[in-house]
Amino acid sequence: MGAFFFLGYYLKKSVFHFISFRFVVLKMNEIMHQEKIEAIKAAIASADAQNQDELEAYRLQFISKKSVVGELFAEMRNIPNEQKREYGQLVNEVKQLADAKFQELIDKVNAASKKSKSMDLDLTLPPTYIPVGGIHPLTATRQRIIEIFERIGFNLSEGPEIEDDWHNFTALNFPENHPAREMQDTFFIEKNPDIALRTHTSSVQVRVMENQKPPIRTLSPGRVYRNEAISARAHCIFHQVEGLYVDENVGFADLKNTLYHFAKEMFGRETKVRFRPSFFPFTEPSAEIDISCLLCGGKGCNVCKGSGWVEIGGSGMVDPNVLENCGIDSKKYTGFAFGMGIERIAMLKYQIKDLRLFTENDVRFLKQFRSLL
Ligand code: DAH
Repeated sequence: MGAFFFLGYYLKKSVFHFISFRFVVLKMNEIMHQEKIEAIKAAIASADAQNQDELEAYRLQFISKKSVVGELFAEMRNIPNEQKREYGQLVNEVKQLADAKFQELIDKVNAASKKSKSMDLDLTLPPTYIPVGGIHPLTATRQRIIEIFERIGFNLSEGPEIEDDWHNFTALNFPENHPAREMQDTFFIEKNPDIALRTHTSSVQVRVMENQKPPIRTLSPGRVYRNEAISARAHCIFHQVEGLYVDENVGFADLKNTLYHFAKEMFGRETKVRFRPSFFPFTEPSAEIDISCLLCGGKGCNVCKGSGWVEIGGSGMVDPNVLENCGIDSKKYTGFAFGMGIERIAMLKYQIKDLRLFTENDVRFLKQFRSLL
């Protein structure tokens, strides 16, 4: 009996011990957690950030999954069920504090950087250089030519670069096997019937006259091709501008006056023009157009080869055969035409010595024309 009593007592005592021990452990844990939480709260309250790096440090310390606040959440697993609610509330409070502080620090850093940016703004500094392109000298020259002729009533017209034999040669009075074709050998795309890259913009004359009734006053700039060896003075690809004026009573005097006007507008008031008799199958009479040398003013230099004159194109009265080929009554109408090389004009105007520069795309050459923009 005495032994039972003792055992009973012992059991009671140990149960009591056990319970009290667990209570003490729980209490201690609780106190430890509370202390920890208080310490974290204090750390959050005193945290500060001056820049992005410090913001990031704060984020790692208090916001990220592995932060001290993250760890408090992870700790939830080890909290006895009866304390989970209370613990959860405490931890959530810490989280809210951490988040609010984070937002506050973000705002502060952003405001500071905005302020420092506006303080960095020095209005007296020269602006950042943004390189701009320029107009190609050939484009600028073509534009200027168009402008001059537009003001005296010429409109613009264009035709294809791949041309048939009729428009490039036959209609212009170059019969098959005529020696004048020899000087305008080109690149053939098809033979019989012949389709080739046009050798001149005179083909556009034919197309315009086939489709329009006089009066015609038109300018046709465009690219042309010839089978030429490339050198400082010649290229297999170049540009021309064609002019055509067909109406009643158009005479050679009109041709001369038009080109006088053009030369003075293009090259300057002092420029003289001379017409040198020549031959073109599609004009009669024909003349080559020379202007007084821009470099030496006519005295003679190596650009004009001592003559004082440089050639800029060909011209003449449209041959009646050509008018008839295009369905225009040559008894009623007469006309003049001219054709000039755009490279030639640009070379004279800007004193460019080598034609190849136009197509080499060397920026050291091209940037000299930026002011033409
Ligand atoms: N088409 C000629 C050539 O390329 C230039 C020419 C000469 C055009 C006389 C004309 C002209 O309109 O009348 O060599």
